[in-house]
Amino acid sequence: MTFSRFLKLVIKAPVLAVGCAIVGVLFSALLLLTTFLIHLIGGLEHGQISQLVQVIAKHLPLVFAVGGSLSAFMTDVPISSVFGSARWATGRELQKLSTTDDGLLIGRDPETDALLRYDGPAHLLTMAPTRTGKGVGVIIPNLLTAERSVICVDPKGENARINGRAREQFGPVHILDPSGVTGEHSLSFQSPRYARSRRARYGGRCQYAG
Ligand SMILES: Nc1ncnc2c1ncn2[C@@H]1O[C@H](COP(=O)(O)OP(=O)(O)OP(=O)(O)O)[C@@H](O)[C@H]1O
Ligand SMILES: [Mg+2]
Repeated sequence: MTFSRFLKLVIKAPVLAVGCAIVGVLFSALLLLTTFLIHLIGGLEHGQISQLVQVIAKHLPLVFAVGGSLSAFMTDVPISSVFGSARWATGRELQKLSTTDDGLLIGRDPETDALLRYDGPAHLLTMAPTRTGKGVGVIIPNLLTAERSVICVDPKGENARINGRAREQFGPVHILDPSGVTGEHSLSFQSPRYARSRRARYGGRCQYAG
């Protein structure tokens, strides 16, 4: 635990303690009132029970206060990621994503409309129904701006058609298009030359495995 985090907890604990103590006082008052009404209306009175109720009511605020201050530390225990750690971004994280110029475009801040970029270690997955803008909203803008190597699996050929030329500013662009969907010149490999190469045996095994 870092010092600043510890400091935050030390400030949070007394605030929670006071809040819980107030709740404890309310509960005590409710308990005493209920007991009083039972005595008054029902005429029931048992010395030992009254004593017990008074002791509980007296200590309840203290118990709540201690519980509250301890909970400040307990809620900060990191949640296990065994079953996944996915969650919504916090406001602070969104602000960080909207101010950086690095990383892949992942969307817009719904409040400020600023572009959000992510350059962290996590993998990204965009899921949305068909024809809802995955291409125009995420894939194409990233292909137009990402100054990094990209392997783009593009069965419709639209990304090659739209971004192929533009990506040449970042380096060589190779289009492998055996079905001819892009209308662009496709790379190919020379099988006779390949068959003679040392890699052929390895490739054969890969094909077999595939
Ligand atoms: N923000 C937008 N403004 C205007 N038109 C849009 C917008 N988003 C999507 N469209 C239109 O919707 C069509 C589908 O968008 P896009 O190809 O990005 O969807 P997709 O989610 O990639 O679909 P698919 O699952 O079929 O690949 C586009 O051709 C475009 O005309
Ligand atoms: Mg698409």
